[in-house]
Amino acid sequence: MNKILIALTILGLCAAANFKCTAEMKTAKACTMEYMPVCGVKMAEKGSSKYSSIKATYGNKCSACATEGVEFYAVGSCDEYPKNATFCHPEAHLNLACTRELFPTCGLYDNSITCDKGLCGSNFSNKCMACTNEHVSYFMAGYCKNQK
Ligand SMILES: *[C@@H]1O[C@H](CO)[C@@H](O)[C@H](O)[C@H]1NC(C)=O
Ligand SMILES: *[C@@H]1O[C@H](CO)[C@@H](O)[C@H](O)[C@H]1NC(C)=O
Repeated sequence: MNKILIALTILGLCAAANFKCTAEMKTAKACTMEYMPVCGVKMAEKGSSKYSSIKATYGNKCSACATEGVEFYAVGSCDEYPKNATFCHPEAHLNLACTRELFPTCGLYDNSITCDKGLCGSNFSNKCMACTNEHVSYFMAGYCKNQK
């Protein structure tokens, strides 16, 4: 367990479930300057509402959610995640209709699942299937390589 925490700290990688911006957060008139960075995600204008890679770091969740178009956020700055990470919408797991097309995807788990070392993930047939797993926080194209 200690090893896991140390490894995550050294790599600066932190996995956490994603959080939806509430209506209240979206209409916040003012945010504090407190620095508790989050990776805010905007959904693509077209296409899926289940996941997106349009992301930017904000000083805190209030300023992320008060930004037009930001629908949800992951804890920590976007730099703490792989560059090509695409984040699952917090409600994507409610979606039960995925095609079975094979587009190998590596889904990375949030911190509800820990592994012996490194990032913790599983192979999925496609992105829709990855995000349907409620513990998957983000994914990358291709099969998992260094993930356990
Ligand atoms: C995912 O699939 C690849 C290729 O088949 C394999 O090398 C890897 O061990 C698998 N990873 C996991 C976490 O299942
Ligand atoms: C995503 O980025 C990681 C490292 O940041 C790299 O190992 C992996 O090959 C990349 N995957 C794709 C599909 O570009």
